[in-house]
Amino acid sequence: MADINIAAAREKLSSKGFLDVAISPELDLFLEIGKLKKEKNAVILAHYYQESDIQDVADFLGDSLALAQQAEKTTADLIVFAGVHFMAETAKILNPDKKVVLPDLNAGCSLADSAPGYLFKEFKERYPDHLVISYINCSAEVKALSDIICTSSNAEKIIESVPKDQKIIFAPDKNLGAYLIKKTGRDMVLWNGACMVHEIFSLEKITKLKIRHPNAKIIAHPECEDPILRIADYIGSTTGLLNYTKKDTSLEYIVATETGILHQMQLASPRKTFIPAPPTNNCACNDCPHMKLNTLEKLYLCMKYEQPELLMDPRLMVAARKPIDRMLQISASYGL
Ligand code: 13P
Ligand code: SF4
Repeated sequence: MADINIAAAREKLSSKGFLDVAISPELDLFLEIGKLKKEKNAVILAHYYQESDIQDVADFLGDSLALAQQAEKTTADLIVFAGVHFMAETAKILNPDKKVVLPDLNAGCSLADSAPGYLFKEFKERYPDHLVISYINCSAEVKALSDIICTSSNAEKIIESVPKDQKIIFAPDKNLGAYLIKKTGRDMVLWNGACMVHEIFSLEKITKLKIRHPNAKIIAHPECEDPILRIADYIGSTTGLLNYTKKDTSLEYIVATETGILHQMQLASPRKTFIPAPPTNNCACNDCPHMKLNTLEKLYLCMKYEQPELLMDPRLMVAARKPIDRMLQISASYGL
C-alpha cells in the first residue's frame, strides 16, 4: 500500500499534477475512500462525465449547476472535486476558507481554454454597453470579467431575467450561444469557443445509426453543433438528458454528449438501450480527455495526502464570486 508522509507527498506531486505513487492492487479503494471521507469530514462532488467508479463512490453526483449549489452549501472540511479545473475553481470560490483538492490538477477544459482572460478582456472592451453572461465552463479570470454566470440547465432563465433591451455578450461557447439565441430570440454577441467533445459528433453517422434504430430518440447536449441539435428529439443539460430518459417511454436512445452520463442512464433504466453518438473519426473523442484524467486511484491519493490542492488568488476569488452568486440567486428565484 502507498505510504508516504505529507512532505514526501508534496515532493512527489510532480509536474504531471497528480501524486505518482504506486498503490497496492490488493487495496479496496472503495473501502479506503469511505474511511477517508469519515476521518477527514470530506465530501466528494463528482460530475456525470467521470468514470463509473468515481460516480459510484461520490457523495454527490450532478451537472455543473447542481455541483455549484452543493459546493455552496457543504459543511464538509475537505472538498474533493472529481471534475475539471473550472468546476473545482467554482467550489473554491464559493468556499475560500476550505481546502479543495482534485485528483488531477491538469484536468482542464478545451472550452474554458478557448477564452484566455487577457483576450476576453479586450473583446469585452469592444462592447462597453453589453452585459456579460458567461457559461460556467470558463476560467476564474473570465468569470471575474462577467456579470452573470450560467450553466446549460439555467442559461435560458438567466437570459430571460435580463431586461429585453439590454445588449448581451455570451461566452465562451458559440454552439450553446447560438442555441440560446434561437430559444430566447435575443441577439447576443458570441465568443468563438467550443467544446472539443461536443464538436466531434458526426451528423452522417448519427443519421445512419438512426436508420438502423428507427425507434431510438436522439438526445443532445446544447454544446453540440447546430446540425446535431436540429435532428435531436430532446436537448438539455446532463441532468436534463438523464431525467428525460427516466420519464420518456422509448426504449432506445442515441446520446450526443460525453459518454460518462450513460452510466447513470443505464442504472436508472436498466431495460433501455443507450447508444453513444458516434464521433467523426474512429476515435474515442466522445470521451472527454480532461474529465477522464481523473481515476479512482488518483481520487484515493488526493484524499489521503490532500494533494493536489487548488490554490487561488484571494482577490480573483472575490471578483469571480459576484457573477456566480448572481447565478445562484437567479436560479433560486426560478426554483432551479
Ligand atoms: P452540464 O454539466 O451543465 O450539463 O455541462 C456539461 C459539461 O460540459 C461539463 O463540462
Ligand atoms: Fe470541457 Fe467539453 Fe470536457 Fe466539458 S466535455 S470539460 S466542456 S472539454
